[in-house]
Amino acid sequence: MFESSLTVASGTVATLASLEPWQAEEFAAHMERAREHIRPWVGPSFVTTDIAGARATLQRYADATARDGNRILGIRLDGVLVGGVMFVDFNSAVGTCEIGCWLEPSAEGRGLITAACRTLLRYAFEERGLHRAEWRCRADNLRSSAVAQRLGMALEGVLREAWKVGDMFYDTQVWGVRADESIRAS
Ligand SMILES: CC(C)(COP(=O)(O)OP(=O)(O)OC[C@H]1O[C@@H](n2cnc3c(N)ncnc32)[C@H](O)[C@@H]1OP(=O)(O)O)[C@@H](O)C(=O)NCCC(=O)NCCS
Repeated sequence: MFESSLTVASGTVATLASLEPWQAEEFAAHMERAREHIRPWVGPSFVTTDIAGARATLQRYADATARDGNRILGIRLDGVLVGGVMFVDFNSAVGTCEIGCWLEPSAEGRGLITAACRTLLRYAFEERGLHRAEWRCRADNLRSSAVAQRLGMALEGVLREAWKVGDMFYDTQVWGVRADESIRAS
């Protein structure tokens, strides 16, 4: 497997690697630990309940990756899958991407997501020459907006009641960073 290490607090051994359909069983076991924590904050199709659902998620990303589109990568802490990051959107033709993320509760508060997203931003801007990256979150998702801020993104706008969970509609924040801003800050 191709993986890179994530630099976070001392004593934390974390890795970032592509998540692929053959890892559906591991992804489903992780989803058991993460599901209720992430449910209010991520798209419903990502919150799966069995191995077939987990495989469908990973296959969707694998198909998109094969077309140089979206990508999903897992974060492992001491060898255990605890979350990940993804290009929810990746469009080299127009030079834009959108980053998303999730963690199971036990892995929060260590800087894993910020470090993993920095890796994605470096890939998008320095390796692929994209121009801008976006981050969208529910306006009341303070941990998510804190990551966007840590990545040097600017809050560019609020889409009113654009995020539906059950019968409720929530505002969506749109954060963004241009390549020149991100490379200058890193
Ligand atoms: C959003 C989510 C991924 C953020 O997780 P997180 O742990 O807060 O983010 P990071 O991994 O970047 O860690 C940052 C935290 O680690 C701390 N930290 C420790 N070492 C750090 C380091 N080297 N670098 C950065 N932060 C560090 C920070 O202070 C911060 O903790 P605090 O908020 O308690 O002060 C997580 O809350 C989650 O999975 N939520 C549910 C799903 C979700 O909302 N997904 C996003 C949808 S838009």
